[in-house]
Amino acid sequence: MGPLNPSKRGQAAVLTRAKPSYLPRDISILHLEVIEESAECLHLTVKDPSSQRYEVQLPDQQHSPWGKAAAQNTQYSIEFQHNPFSFTVRRKSNYKVIMNTSVAPFLFTDQYLQLSTTLASSSVSGLGEHYTSLRLDLNWTSLTLWNQDTKPRAGANLYGSHPFYIVQEADGFAYGVFMLNSNAMEVILQPTPALTWVALGGILDLYVFLGPNPESIIRQYLQVIGYPMMPPYWALGFHLCRWGYKTSNATRKVAQRMRDANFPLDVQWNDLDYAHGRRVFTFDPVRFGDLPQMVQEFHEQNLKYVLILDPGISTTSPPGSYAPYDDGLKRDVFIKNSTGNAIIGKVWPGPTAFPDFTNPETIKWWEDCIKDFLSQVSVDGLWIDMNEPSSFVQGSVDGCPDSDLDQPPYTPPVVGGQLNSKTLCMSAQQFLSTHYNLHNMYGLTEAYATHRALINVQSKRPFVLSRSSYPGIGRFSGVWTGDVTSNWEQLRFSIPTVLLFGLYGVPLVGADVCGFEGNTTEELCVRWMQLGAFYPFMRNHNDRPNIPQEPYVFGKKAQAAMRSALNLRYSLLPFLYTLFHHAHTSAQTVARALFVEFPFDPNCKAIDRQFLWGSALLISPALEQGVVEIPAYLPSGTWYSLQDGQPFYSKSEYVLLSSSLDTVNVHVREGHIIPQQEPSLTTAASRTNPFFLTVALSAGGRAWGDLFWDDGESLDTFEKNSYSYVIFTAGQARIVSDPVRLNKDLDGLVLGGVRVFGVWAPPRYVLANGEKVNFTYHIDTKALVVNKLALPMSEIFTVQWAL
Ligand code: NOJ
Repeated sequence: MGPLNPSKRGQAAVLTRAKPSYLPRDISILHLEVIEESAECLHLTVKDPSSQRYEVQLPDQQHSPWGKAAAQNTQYSIEFQHNPFSFTVRRKSNYKVIMNTSVAPFLFTDQYLQLSTTLASSSVSGLGEHYTSLRLDLNWTSLTLWNQDTKPRAGANLYGSHPFYIVQEADGFAYGVFMLNSNAMEVILQPTPALTWVALGGILDLYVFLGPNPESIIRQYLQVIGYPMMPPYWALGFHLCRWGYKTSNATRKVAQRMRDANFPLDVQWNDLDYAHGRRVFTFDPVRFGDLPQMVQEFHEQNLKYVLILDPGISTTSPPGSYAPYDDGLKRDVFIKNSTGNAIIGKVWPGPTAFPDFTNPETIKWWEDCIKDFLSQVSVDGLWIDMNEPSSFVQGSVDGCPDSDLDQPPYTPPVVGGQLNSKTLCMSAQQFLSTHYNLHNMYGLTEAYATHRALINVQSKRPFVLSRSSYPGIGRFSGVWTGDVTSNWEQLRFSIPTVLLFGLYGVPLVGADVCGFEGNTTEELCVRWMQLGAFYPFMRNHNDRPNIPQEPYVFGKKAQAAMRSALNLRYSLLPFLYTLFHHAHTSAQTVARALFVEFPFDPNCKAIDRQFLWGSALLISPALEQGVVEIPAYLPSGTWYSLQDGQPFYSKSEYVLLSSSLDTVNVHVREGHIIPQQEPSLTTAASRTNPFFLTVALSAGGRAWGDLFWDDGESLDTFEKNSYSYVIFTAGQARIVSDPVRLNKDLDGLVLGGVRVFGVWAPPRYVLANGEKVNFTYHIDTKALVVNKLALPMSEIFTVQWAL
């Protein structure tokens, strides 16, 4: 390492390799830059000064949102060891080493970059997408980050790649590390504790976030990759799908049966069944001939409609008969093979070409295809599947050329053994670079193009759901966790997966409720509906060969349990929507791991069988067959049962909760106020119902909550100030609302009631806006309930009680 010289925003140095590494194509002279991005964010890059290598560019995003000068008062210090080169990063406040890269050689060759570092503790979370617990196993676990169409199972590289981890230190501090690189990567976790990054190309582009706590680390990370989008309100309702609704009439019948059985449903979906010959942007003239009318009818019933959109464009229709392909060829939008023609893989419709979403012309063509299709069928959102991209032949129908890209000197352990297993040739050429470099970003770039297209075509908040993911996707899309199997283990592991996507800035996430692959059972499906009611994104989806799993197919008791879980979710949607507002505007998590909320409670470090909504609700689902009670951890403080207000005073302890089939255990944390609304069968209806507040008083008799409200679908309502925001506070035996900002969407809506938990004695009387009102007081649970109010939400109101 040469001398460190001051640079514009930090320091720079030349790194020179004296001896060969014995790997092919060493890059012996490198340029190191240390950028002090902000007081909490340190950024290091290592590049080849003599030739421009591929660097990640996230769509529409600047990587350095911070100032132009080096940061002042940094929370970190960095020291270098010169020969051999390594560095140590410390947290200044406690002098803790959070990275020490001297533990193994640093390597930088054309197709193999390696950096190892110590970890400040063994509590490491992240590095998705894999089938793991929230806390990773450091006992020589190898995690490959390479997007692939592989159903969730241990050890496999799954649909998304998120080269980001959080380490919880012993004393409540935490830090995060992000490697901005889209090449195939492997991360080897070691018990030291340490880890080794291996990347098959690009540059070393490393961010270290000092937090100091998990929530602030996530915010710092999302400042680099982008904050999540605000979903439309209806997207938080219940979604129903399966592969195998073979006709429009069969699809209509599903929605009808849901309504007849009084199950809330917001969004009816179709899988590939609708498409003519499985070609996207078409619909089957016989089985789905009246698709446009069907969607019209759904809209009249206040239902939304989403269908699947695969990226693969069929290449075998007679010329002139399939515009997406004909136009696509003309406009040169497809990924190319080594001879300059569209590379052909195989997906559901047979041979297909793959749009190159890094090409600006492709983005326009995609929008034209979507616009044209939406002018026929007014779908409300798009489900972008198979976008790793997935192909049923390795590389292409013609194989792949013999090249260093398809046969790199080192291949990390990927399912199928080769990078081009189940996908395109690595040598395929895209507008920005090779597929070798861009593969992991395929879904992200498609999500960006689809999100933009929907905005331009619909002028509304778009809804996109993607299977493949990469940092930044939360700005454009939600994610579901792919082809989960209908079994208890997959139910249980869906929780860490959902929580991890929260760390990656993708709050709108859920697993296929009741499981996708294989037959579900009644009990499993009840439990999955109960857990799914607390996924930020809730969709029941099923594979073709399986027994049906729509809620109405089950026995009476099971149906009742599912109905009550759905009603509970719908009653909580104002709160959930407000959490999404905070995710969108301040990068807070929605479904939140306990360690994120309670960083100082060592018991919370690895909990991933329970989780929170925001900081106020604790969900403790039943995850095993036949259980009637479950052990649940309650962090220190008072927790009230959401159902009836029964308090539990925890000194950081595990309690046994009864969990009969009709119950899902949810607790409200003392000090919080949850805005709720009476449920209805759709969000269009529930949004007009009276609100009610669940007020969980602290030991001192206080509580706080808020509500974000707008029309639920317009673009950028926060950014354009067309929303309402109301704060609720409780203290000294009274609840007061403060409408901090108002717009017309709250007009006409009323507060219908309050439930106050933790009222220690029966009130003598209750006043609402100064007038005496009826109330009930439950002496056993110490809950005060006031119903039949009609206080305008757009005005200040008070509800007070006299003891
Ligand atoms: C794979 C997806 O993961 C699954 O959800 C879908 O049903 C099938 N493709 C068919 O489109």
